[in-house]
Amino acid sequence: MPHNTYHQHFADFGERIWLNTASEGAIPLVAAEALKEACEWKLHPYELTLRRFREVPERLKINLSRLLNVYPTDVILGNSATYGIHLLANGLPFQAEDEILVMQNDFPTNILPWLALEEKGVRIRQMVSENSVISPTELYAYITKRTKVVCLSHVHSFTGHMLDIAAIGHYCRQRQIIFVVNISQSCGNIPLNLTELPVDAVTCAAFKWLCGPYGTGFCWMTSSLRERLDYNQASWGLLTAEELAGTGPLKPILSKEARRYDVYGTANFFNFYPLAKAVELLLEIGVSQICQHNQQLVQMFLEKLDRSCYEILSPLAPLPLTSLMVISHKDPQRNPGIFRILLEQGIYSALWKGKIRFSPHLYNRQSDIVKTLDIIHREGKL
Ligand SMILES: Cc1ncc(COP(=O)(O)O)c(C=O)c1O
Repeated sequence: MPHNTYHQHFADFGERIWLNTASEGAIPLVAAEALKEACEWKLHPYELTLRRFREVPERLKINLSRLLNVYPTDVILGNSATYGIHLLANGLPFQAEDEILVMQNDFPTNILPWLALEEKGVRIRQMVSENSVISPTELYAYITKRTKVVCLSHVHSFTGHMLDIAAIGHYCRQRQIIFVVNISQSCGNIPLNLTELPVDAVTCAAFKWLCGPYGTGFCWMTSSLRERLDYNQASWGLLTAEELAGTGPLKPILSKEARRYDVYGTANFFNFYPLAKAVELLLEIGVSQICQHNQQLVQMFLEKLDRSCYEILSPLAPLPLTSLMVISHKDPQRNPGIFRILLEQGIYSALWKGKIRFSPHLYNRQSDIVKTLDIIHREGKL
């Protein structure tokens, strides 16, 4: 599939340009078709067959597992990236004085779920980095004998900088520290092979680079980590046909299978069926092809950006760059105004912490970058 045809898989945005996938990705047409099909099932509830109840989550888990090279039976379906972190924060057995390391100024999903543990005497240390993401050396200085978990984003939402997962993961593994990575800003955009990465758990919002509906996400953790969860999650969907048919007392669900931790209402036809179709499309195109496509747009933008008026805050190396480009006018006070003018012209970026973020994906073309640059150059004249 040639790169310049990817936009055909999505709705026509007319004159508008969506450069904000880091907040929300568009769903592809095949996902919209799946949603229509799921509506038909609900309009005619006899179409909500047991087979569909089973197949919708199964199919999604298979697709997600292919994306990350893991077993489908280890994928846990959720509604956000927050969901996976809560499973760990509420399910792992922490003691007073244990330490959890997160990074100050990371996306709140990676911090908030842990903070309630402070009431139990667990210390949540919000590390400070000199740069946009914590470097391995900076992290090592925070590690103590009480460090139990390190939880960070793979790609930082506000600057586009990428974490050195391999170095940090190996270091944590040698010390039996649980390493949790939020892949919401990389999965679907950068190839990831979890069998080769020293991570214990990943969590991901599926409504950005995976082009799924809002309210979808998933997590994955090693089976040994899952075994350590002590979390009361029990849904009737886990009962066997015999148990469901029986009339006697029920027993508690003690299984530690991943599916026990799926978000309740796991078949979730309106969300998970379109997401499964969206991921199928990404697999068909191939994440490395998607990465190449996005790289071309990112490199074009960064190369042509007038550096006499603008500073680039996102990384310029190593390759592949992330698809999150963050820039600031040399006079940062002008950023909100430039953001607003872009919006008036139908160009959707994001204004985070006073800086402008652009995040192109499959539906964007070179002409989108040219038009955006024209406007920011015109408006940014010193
Ligand atoms: C790294 C990261 N995690 C998570 C989210 C979304 O949060 P959640 O899926 O927990 O609602 C975002 C952005 O919206 C993000 O950038």
